[in-house]
Amino acid sequence: MGCTRPRTRAAQVAREEPSLPREARDFRTQRTARPRRYLMCPPAHFKVTYSINPWMDPEKPVDLPLALAQWEDLRDRYRSLGHTVELLDPRPELPDMVFAANGATVIDNRVLGARFAHPERAAEAEVHLDWFRAHGFTTVHEPSHINEGEGDFAVTDSYLLAGRGFRSSPLSHDEAQEFFGRPVIGLDLVDPRYYHLDTALCVLDDSADEIMYYPPAFSRGSRAVLARLFPDALIAEEPDAAALGLNAVSDGHHVLLPQGAIGLFDPLRARGYEPIGMDLGELLKGGGSVKCCTQEIRS
Ligand code: ARG
Repeated sequence: MGCTRPRTRAAQVAREEPSLPREARDFRTQRTARPRRYLMCPPAHFKVTYSINPWMDPEKPVDLPLALAQWEDLRDRYRSLGHTVELLDPRPELPDMVFAANGATVIDNRVLGARFAHPERAAEAEVHLDWFRAHGFTTVHEPSHINEGEGDFAVTDSYLLAGRGFRSSPLSHDEAQEFFGRPVIGLDLVDPRYYHLDTALCVLDDSADEIMYYPPAFSRGSRAVLARLFPDALIAEEPDAAALGLNAVSDGHHVLLPQGAIGLFDPLRARGYEPIGMDLGELLKGGGSVKCCTQEIRS
């Protein structure tokens, strides 16, 4: 036991300096941002006319100019942090297109297309595939099984975490493992408010397997798997999860998250991250926030 390698950076610091209190150890952790390439789609035609998750109430009006301004804020924030933001052309018949994370999963320039669970969003998959083909991506796979892109797939250093239960089919997990050659960890989602993996779990450092998540969104077995693989994970409390605080995007240093998730800010800072609260209140009416609007193109 004595010579096993610490699994995470936090565990390593803890081992080297066991006498330091936890916060002090964490405080010493140096975080580094890595420039990212994101794909986003402006909410020019965003509206809530159907309901495919419990957040969507077609009776509730959406303030479209406000939705656009909030989304532009997010886009501009990424750019000011040094990230590249690519844009998809919004289609009037696809009001959920703003949630670009669902359209594909890209790792090592390999593009796994999406296949949506609900007919209302089905046509988005082709728009994403066309974009990747037009932008020089040559390894593009049209999936046989339902998967909603990064809504249900999350990339850590060692694994591809994969949600199931509401949208993506368990069969898509094997398909993704075969295509990417990365070990897939299937996770069962059990609470309809957290219908996609990215509403309940966020990768904070994809070079060190660091995540934050909300355990009650997962089945008992999946909670045990997460606790085993990520013993140092930041555990979110109910109010922050309910503010969709796990629907966040990290570049390894900055963590952009819904501003209502105030309980996550200090724990993130204690781990050396810089939380940046974003107001995406209008898009929350569609059941999405920061991460849902952001697909990462990993080269
Ligand atoms: N209204 C969209 C849906 O229900 C929201 C998608 C949110 N995206 C996400 N990555 N969780 O499909």
